[in-house]
Amino acid sequence: MKKIESWLECVRCSKNYSIDELRYTCECGGVLDVRRDLSKVDGQELKKLWDSRWGMKRGIESSGVWRYRELILDAPDEKIVTRQEGNTRLYHAGKAAQYAGLKNFYLKHEGENPTGSFKDRGMTCGTTAAMMFNAKSVACASTGNTSASMASYAACCGVKSIIFIPAGKIAYGKLAQALAYGGITLQIDGNFDDAMTLVQEVCEKLGIYLLNSINPFRIEGQKAIGFEIVQQLDWEVPDWIVVPGGNLGNNSAISKGLMELHELGIINKIPRIAVIQAEGANPLYRMWKNKTPYEAVKNPETIATAIKIGNPVSWEKALRGIEWSNGVVDDVTEQEIMDAKAWVDAAGIGAEPASCCSVAGAKKLVEAGIIKPDEKVVGILTGNVLKDPDAVIGYHQNTLTNMGIVGTFANKPKQIKPTVEDVRKAIS
Ligand code: F0G
Repeated sequence: MKKIESWLECVRCSKNYSIDELRYTCECGGVLDVRRDLSKVDGQELKKLWDSRWGMKRGIESSGVWRYRELILDAPDEKIVTRQEGNTRLYHAGKAAQYAGLKNFYLKHEGENPTGSFKDRGMTCGTTAAMMFNAKSVACASTGNTSASMASYAACCGVKSIIFIPAGKIAYGKLAQALAYGGITLQIDGNFDDAMTLVQEVCEKLGIYLLNSINPFRIEGQKAIGFEIVQQLDWEVPDWIVVPGGNLGNNSAISKGLMELHELGIINKIPRIAVIQAEGANPLYRMWKNKTPYEAVKNPETIATAIKIGNPVSWEKALRGIEWSNGVVDDVTEQEIMDAKAWVDAAGIGAEPASCCSVAGAKKLVEAGIIKPDEKVVGILTGNVLKDPDAVIGYHQNTLTNMGIVGTFANKPKQIKPTVEDVRKAIS
């Protein structure tokens, strides 16, 4: 395969920069995209190549991101930092499909990545870019998963990782990972949006490589979620992909990747993308619903701490992707998130609260008649069930009522005496 020419391009004003230039935003303040000249690329040849790599046992291309390396990042093998990420399962949603009112409902479980979230797909690419720029340290602001992933990948390639998290506001499993993998963990007084502002200034002033999804190479890696979904469906395109929205990098990545496959003739249509936000952290939804200019939400609040974000950096890219795909934006309540989670968990699949916006959102869109019950729908589960045990226990022990959440489908633990008779009663 010949080298594909690539460059950076501003999403707002279309100004171009060299792919080798270390920058995250345009002079005008817009976010940047990696663009490629696909005009001379043979899509069918690429598809054959990717199929030939399916199921490889080892090596760089056994990764579910680097399998698609031609459209990910032109990096020499020795610079690639990989943990064989991706290759996540695509489940039939089982009970959660019934709950959502869908027959053909699949869940792509990105919580099965090496550090338990989809962030690993972006991070393999982001840390590889860091290696190519000879970075000695990397940083991110995070609601927990990005920091867990970055700390792991930084440890793998021997660079220092500096993490900015809102103090007391991230799930324990994620904080534990950041500490365990050796990230320098800075808990700041403020929310994620404050941490995001700070990390951008710190990276610029202290020459640290920024690994939030404002980094265009992170987005390139996350495109592989969409690539892998269509490859798992034998290149058949689902009608919908439903994805939770926080900082809005992931939905932007998925739609960008699918647009590229469409341009190459690898797929014949783009699935409609539905972005689902939590009601208390829904700036994109407000803009979408009211047709008003973008405005950040000041004090975002939600039990889905992963997406407790009021001022998402990628909102422009997200909107573009939604328009490309004739998509929609919706929001869901705290109760809807946790009830949907109870069904995802009870289906034996399990995921963290933010992930379950996909299922809560799909259900809401079916009820509104926007998604038809017989359409083929893929929901993205973004993080592992073990990331946030407090939310699980709180729901099942019905102790979240102070947050207005009732354990509607609670599976309460039972206290019994150690006798056969008590066991018989408890299980009957
Ligand atoms: N789901 C989970 C589990 C997440 O961790 C995130 C984002 C999202 C959904 C939303 O994805 O930001 O691309 O729209 N977590 C980031 C973090 C912000 O720091 O871990 P998005």
